[in-house]
Amino acid sequence: MKNQITNYGLTLALKSLLRFYPIPEPRVFRGAGSIQELARHVASDNLESVLLITSKYFVAEKKIDPIIEVFRSRGIHVEIFSDVPPNPSLDIVERGAELCRSKNCGAIYAFGGGSVIDAAKGIAAQVGSNAPARKLIGLFKVKGRALPLFVVPTTSGSGSEVTNAAVLSDPETHQKLFLFDHKIVPLAIALDPNATLTLPPKFTAATGMDALTHAIESYISKISDKRSEELAESAISTIFEYLPKAYNEGQGLDAREKMAVASYEAGIAFSRSGLGFVHAISHQITAFYGIPHGTANAVILPHVLRASISKAAPALAKLARATGIADEGKGDEPLADLFIEQVRALSIQLDLPTAFPEMKEDDFETIAGNAIKEASFNFPVPKMLNSEDCIEILNMLKAGEFSEEDSASIEFPPVEEDSRISKNVAVA
Ligand SMILES: [Fe+2]
Repeated sequence: MKNQITNYGLTLALKSLLRFYPIPEPRVFRGAGSIQELARHVASDNLESVLLITSKYFVAEKKIDPIIEVFRSRGIHVEIFSDVPPNPSLDIVERGAELCRSKNCGAIYAFGGGSVIDAAKGIAAQVGSNAPARKLIGLFKVKGRALPLFVVPTTSGSGSEVTNAAVLSDPETHQKLFLFDHKIVPLAIALDPNATLTLPPKFTAATGMDALTHAIESYISKISDKRSEELAESAISTIFEYLPKAYNEGQGLDAREKMAVASYEAGIAFSRSGLGFVHAISHQITAFYGIPHGTANAVILPHVLRASISKAAPALAKLARATGIADEGKGDEPLADLFIEQVRALSIQLDLPTAFPEMKEDDFETIAGNAIKEASFNFPVPKMLNSEDCIEILNMLKAGEFSEEDSASIEFPPVEEDSRISKNVAVA
C-alpha cells in the first residue's frame, strides 16, 4: 500500500514536471552520410576547434576519418578524446573537460555507444557550468549552459542520444551516479546506418530488444501521451519487422537505419513517459549476475507484461491493433496475450536466452525488494507489483518457465506501413 501511494505521488509529480518543463528534442539528420551532414551543421557555427569524443576502436578502424575531414576542410581544429572506458567515471569527465577547455573547443561531437555518449554529456555539462563533475550529479544541477553537444549513436537501443540522463561512476566506490538535466540533451544527432554496421549480431539483438522494452514500457505507463504513444507504436512496428533483418544481415543499410530510427523514437517515448518494472528488475539482474542490460530486458519483458495484464491489457490490446502485430482475439485480454506471445517469439527468433539458470534463490527477496523500491520511486507503472509477484517472476526466469505454452512457432504477420516510421521523425 505504501509503495502504491509513493508511486501515485511520483506519477502526479512527473506528469506536472514534464508538462511544464518538457524535455527538448534534438534535430535529427538521418540516412547514410548523415555523419558528415551533422559535422557540416556543427562546422557552420564559427568554431575554432571541436572536441571529438569516441572510443579507441573507432579511431583504429578509421570510422571517424570522414568526420575529421569535414572539420579540417573548414579550418576547424579537431581534438580527439578517445580515453573513454565502459562505465566512464567522474575522473574521465574531469579529464575530458580539461582537454576541452585547454584547446578552446566550442562544441562536442560524440561518436560511440552509451559510455561515450554518457561521458560526452558529463563533459558538456562540466565545461558549461565550470563546476567539479561530482557537483553535477543529481537532478537539474547544471548551472549555466552546457557546451553544445552533437551525437552519433553507434548502437541502436539505449536511446541515450535523446535522453536527459548520463550514467557515470564514482572512481573510488565504482557506484553508479546519475546526472539528470534537460541541458545535456544533444542539440542534434545523426542516425547514420554506417555507424552501426560493425555491431555484432548478439549486440544487435540485445540492444534492439532494449529499444523494444523502452517503447512498450512507455506505452503502458500511466503518463503516456499522444506523442509518446505514436512514437512507441512506430518504433514497435519497425523493430518487429527490421530487428530480425538487422540481426541476420548486419550489413544491410536499410534495416540498420530503420533500427537507428526506432531506437531514437523509443528514446523520445520513454523520455516523455518513463519506464517500468522490466527495467526495475533488469537493473538488479545486471547488478547481481552481470547479465547485459538488453539481454536481461528481453527475457524479463514478457513475464512483467503477463504479471501486469490486469491493468495493462487495454494498452497492450490497443498496441496490438495499432501495430498490426496481433490482430486476432475478441477482447482486450486475449489480444494482449497474443501481443505478449509475439514479444516472446521475437526474442526466441533472435536466439536470445529464455532463462537465467545462474540466478540464486537466496537473492530473490533482496532483488524483489530493490526492484519494488526502484519502480515505486522512479517509474509510473500501470500495476504496482508486490514482492510475491516479483519472486514468482524471478523463479520463472531461473527455471525458463512461462505461464503459457511455448510460442517459438508463432508466425510474424508482415508490417507494411513504412510511412508511419518517417512521419514521427523530424528529418533535417
Ligand atoms: Fe533500457
